[in-house]
Amino acid sequence: MAAMDVFLDRLDPDMCVVTAAADGERAGCLVGFSSQCSIRPVRYCVWISDVNRTFRVARSADVLAVHLLARDQRETAEVFGGLTGDDVDKFGRVRWREGYGGAAVLEDAEAWFVGRVVDRTTGGDHVGFVLEPVEWGGREPAAGPLLRLADARTVRPGHPVD
Ligand SMILES: Cc1cc2nc3c(=O)[nH]c(=O)nc-3n(C[C@H](O)[C@H](O)[C@H](O)COP(=O)(O)O)c2cc1C
Repeated sequence: MAAMDVFLDRLDPDMCVVTAAADGERAGCLVGFSSQCSIRPVRYCVWISDVNRTFRVARSADVLAVHLLARDQRETAEVFGGLTGDDVDKFGRVRWREGYGGAAVLEDAEAWFVGRVVDRTTGGDHVGFVLEPVEWGGREPAAGPLLRLADARTVRPGHPVD
């Protein structure tokens, strides 16, 4: 086991689905690398692999939509994490609508926001999209637990890692 795995294997982040729409194209993938990165102003960063189709659409998008899933929405995690938009139309398999700036908002998400892309930063093989929230929503009151990495670990990434 690589030394760093001792640290990384302890992490169990909430998973999210990040969608992008630009130039008449839509894309979206399951993301484990994300977090709030500023309090005032509120900003949130999602990290997208540069091999994913979602990255190719996101790099020309003005806004991205970020969605939290309930633990029992494993099927949605399979669609966005286990398939690639290079092969299938993921948006034909879920309920979605257009949001602010043409963003693709998943209607069954537990909580979601649309964020304007205010910065992009290279992490390595993932690019960080820093988002400023402009529209948001979700179930109220909040229902059960969210889908976390431990719940999605057995999903095989739909896009080859390299
Ligand atoms: C548990 C899990 C976590 C993932 N985390 C990320 C992530 O943080 N960033 C990312 O770009 N892809 C992540 N992926 C991979 C993409 O969701 C996956 O390759 C997807 O099929 C890409 O779809 P696309 O080619 O349509 O964009 C993750 C996949 C799984 C199963």
